[in-house]
Amino acid sequence: MQQVVRPKVIIGNWKMNKLTAEARSYVSGLALAVSQIPHQIGVAVPFTAICAAAEAARGTPIWIGAQNVSDFEEGPYTGEISVSMLKDAGASFAIVGHSERRHIFHEDNALVNRKVACVLKAGLKPVVCVGETLEQHQTGKTNEVLHTQILNSLKGLSPSNVEHLILAYEPVWAIGTGKTATPENVQSSHAHCRKVIASEWGKDTAEHIVIQYGGSVKPDNAAALLALPDVDGLLVGGASLSLESFNQIIHALRMKN
Ligand code: PGA
Repeated sequence: MQQVVRPKVIIGNWKMNKLTAEARSYVSGLALAVSQIPHQIGVAVPFTAICAAAEAARGTPIWIGAQNVSDFEEGPYTGEISVSMLKDAGASFAIVGHSERRHIFHEDNALVNRKVACVLKAGLKPVVCVGETLEQHQTGKTNEVLHTQILNSLKGLSPSNVEHLILAYEPVWAIGTGKTATPENVQSSHAHCRKVIASEWGKDTAEHIVIQYGGSVKPDNAAALLALPDVDGLLVGGASLSLESFNQIIHALRMKN
């Protein structure tokens, strides 16, 4: 069987940072850096910056996305933002189930599952995050946690829907802590995620799905992470806030080819 060549996707997650003017100038600067790169680059910006970022990205290959979305389509849900609003503002993807949403805002797999379905129905790309806590990591429960999160967060989806989304493996203990999982840990978790996908949605889907790593990705560890066979890209938090360091991470991808 022919070896599947998966695209590489690097996404910056700004979290609750940056105002519209900063978003505009960052994305314009990023556009210069990503021209002629045969990989996909995106930025997940705050809701309030989507329009400005999308305008700055127009005519470039950069994806602009959101960091969260409501599981309701419309109606009396004060403070919520629907997928059609994201689309209207210019987003093409949405992060769903980020560990900060799961842990600080108590989002469970069932809610993540409803959000993923909404995002897919609207024709946007979900970036679905999974990952174990430090305690689960230390007690050897990583594979079991990933299995449960993947099966329940993606419940009811067809193989083609699963193939279309991006899965991001983000060990909770590595997010914003400066601790990156070892390359061995990362490779083994990614391979396990692919195995879980294969068992439920088939080998073909597992071979095509893009699985990103996230958690303290920096310019100096990006190349080693991208060299792992089951790592198809990176979800970058803190190091994406500075255009310079995000560009250095993108450069690591460029050097790979
Ligand atoms: P970090 O965040 O790169 O700052 O660890 C990653 C993420 O939360 O997606």
